[in-house]
Amino acid sequence: LASIEVDVSSVQEGQSITVKWRGKPVFVRNRTAKEVEEANSVPVGDLPDPLARNSNLPDTAEATDANRAAEGKEAWLVMVGICTHLGCVPLGQQGDYDGWFCPCHGSHYDTAGRIRKGPAPQNLLIPPYEFVSDTKVKIG
Ligand code: FES
Repeated sequence: LASIEVDVSSVQEGQSITVKWRGKPVFVRNRTAKEVEEANSVPVGDLPDPLARNSNLPDTAEATDANRAAEGKEAWLVMVGICTHLGCVPLGQQGDYDGWFCPCHGSHYDTAGRIRKGPAPQNLLIPPYEFVSDTKVKIG
């Protein structure tokens, strides 16, 4: 299966890039400390979708911020940028939870890419990936 390597050395705190992987947009975001804190402050029981949806973890993993962020690099979030409702591409740093907003039918995702409000049934999917060095992410 095709994998790609992405150099993230130029992605500053608070910035993100979108790369293409298997024809899909993948968001790679270097979150601010405030964004991480916001995501951490939400009890998992309050989330519409309590599962991490992280391809790198067991299917039953909970949607804690730690289970959504990159291992050992809590600021980084790598997610498939496709709304889990009907497949539009959500817009970054928008919506009621400062994360992503899907303009198609109004789904609001938080700073960990978890669905918080609107018709989307699941958190944004986290693809298989790993940081192969401090500045390089291998996706797929
Ligand atoms: Fe995103 Fe419907 S496709 S809310």
